[in-house]
Amino acid sequence: MRAWLMRSYEGTEKLELTEVPDPQPGQGEALLRTRFAALNPADAFLARAMYPANPPLPHVLGRDGVGEVVAIGPGVDSVRPGDIVGVLRCDVGVATWGTLAEKTVAPAASLARVPEGWALEEMAGAPLAFLTAWQALTQWSDPAAPPPAGTVLLITGASGGVGIAALFLGKSMGLTVAVLSRSKEKGARLKEMGADLVFDPAMPELRKAVLTALSPKRIDLAVDNIGGSLFNEVIAMLGYAGRVSVVGRSAGPVPEFNTASLFFRRNRVGGVAVSDFSPAAAQAAWKEIVSRLKAMGKRPVIDHVFSFAEVKQAFARLAQGPLGKVVVQVGS
Ligand SMILES: NC(=O)c1ccc[n+]([C@@H]2O[C@H](COP(=O)([O-])OP(=O)(O)OC[C@H]3O[C@@H](n4cnc5c(N)ncnc54)[C@H](OP(=O)(O)O)[C@@H]3O)[C@@H](O)[C@H]2O)c1
Repeated sequence: MRAWLMRSYEGTEKLELTEVPDPQPGQGEALLRTRFAALNPADAFLARAMYPANPPLPHVLGRDGVGEVVAIGPGVDSVRPGDIVGVLRCDVGVATWGTLAEKTVAPAASLARVPEGWALEEMAGAPLAFLTAWQALTQWSDPAAPPPAGTVLLITGASGGVGIAALFLGKSMGLTVAVLSRSKEKGARLKEMGADLVFDPAMPELRKAVLTALSPKRIDLAVDNIGGSLFNEVIAMLGYAGRVSVVGRSAGPVPEFNTASLFFRRNRVGGVAVSDFSPAAAQAAWKEIVSRLKAMGKRPVIDHVFSFAEVKQAFARLAQGPLGKVVVQVGS
């Protein structure tokens, strides 16, 4: 089979499209003929050794994908050859070879059928982003549960995979959703997709503009995909007992953070780790996600589908800031 091999930790620019032996499914695993793979910033971070996982080289990136089951290993009865399935968050693309290859081995417990009416590329792009957004929204109660309707949600980096997922899920929960995007065009699209308020994070007096629009409310929950200097602005817009689910760091580290900014309104900051989902928890959350999207008449948003030869261009698009998911067609 052909696969995009990562032979060093020098970034996705160094990936090489090469012929390699087909993988074989082991106990509890299925072999997929990959149809679509979807990219995540984590792939690019991993390729630069900026991710907790450091798999042995050579490695194949790609945590999201969809394909046809072509063989199953011992002990698999949940899928059979001919099924078209997507991969829910698991070790694929992290500890084991990923979906940027013509064939992918995945644990059968982490496979899910394509929801009715969805295109294959939509299934390929959805799981990691939606599971992350689900955790970001529900992690503040124990057991995890959606925030109450009427909660004011702020999403930074809202045009990305996780941002749009958080927007759709937030609206499905009856939340008021304010989003930030650096792009006027993407901001307008986010409004069409259901955002109640849209702001440019670079606008002068962002805090004042957001709080004036929300007055007398403030932000109850923020999903922060960006980090960097925007993080302090997010904290400053929180209301009493406001929370921040820290998802990403697209803008890098927070340059200066004063812990006192958390004191007076008893604000809380909590990390999100999509890798925390067990296969069973991912399946349960995925079922809930699919049923909410169905009830809203929404499907995952695809920014662009690149050909298998164009994987480097696809990573360049991801770095630019897409609107939705960047997908690669691996096979037909
Ligand atoms: N903790 C976890 O388990 C977990 C899981 C998934 C993802 N993540 C992380 O969450 C973040 C978002 O993931 P994603 O898949 O949504 O990424 P994405 O699809 O690349 O989208 C991120 C969005 O953030 C904005 N952005 C990108 N770079 C920026 C910068 N330097 N400054 C300000 N805004 C910037 C862009 O929106 P605009 O152009 O519209 O502003 C972009 O569309 C990434 O850092 C990713 O690694 C974490």
